[in-house]
Amino acid sequence: MDAITLLTADHNRVRGLFTRFRSAHENEATLEMAALATEIFQELDVHTTIEEEIFYPRVKGTDSEIAETVDEGLEEHHVVKVLMDEIRQLEAGDDQWVAKMTVLMENVEHHAEEEEKEMFPSVRSELGGDALQGLADELEARKQQLGAPVLADKIDLTKEQLLELAREQAIPGRSSMDHDELAATVAPR
Ligand SMILES: [Fe+2]
Ligand SMILES: [Fe+2]
Repeated sequence: MDAITLLTADHNRVRGLFTRFRSAHENEATLEMAALATEIFQELDVHTTIEEEIFYPRVKGTDSEIAETVDEGLEEHHVVKVLMDEIRQLEAGDDQWVAKMTVLMENVEHHAEEEEKEMFPSVRSELGGDALQGLADELEARKQQLGAPVLADKIDLTKEQLLELAREQAIPGRSSMDHDELAATVAPR
């Protein structure tokens, strides 16, 4: 497992939460929306922390275009953090709460896509497989410190069990993922 696969797995787990949030919104299920927002915030807190502390600093020096996307990425993280702070002050389910959640999800989707389409492919060609593997270990160790689930918590599940979780969690692209990608992506029950 390399760092880019792990970070992309985080993105897809969050995309699944967004899908579930949007259907909870359609069903006017406020309690479910509030619970999903809590999960989304936890995921975003951990993901932005490991990128900012470990991944971004490591890749920034490799190439000037990567450095530019890292700088933009930091600003995009900042906007999302401001939104999260504002959302935390509001009553879950309020019109403004929903509007801010919608903008947050759109921002994160745009940011994740930019990382996957621009930053990650360049990083993959700048850093070798060994470096990316080493980075993955660092990301996982930091996640564990932050109390977040890691790959090791899920790697022993069968592909069927993982697919079942991926279905429940609305993970996009699940049917074309292999066992290890699924394990990296799903949240343990
Ligand atoms: Fe990011
Ligand atoms: Fe990311």
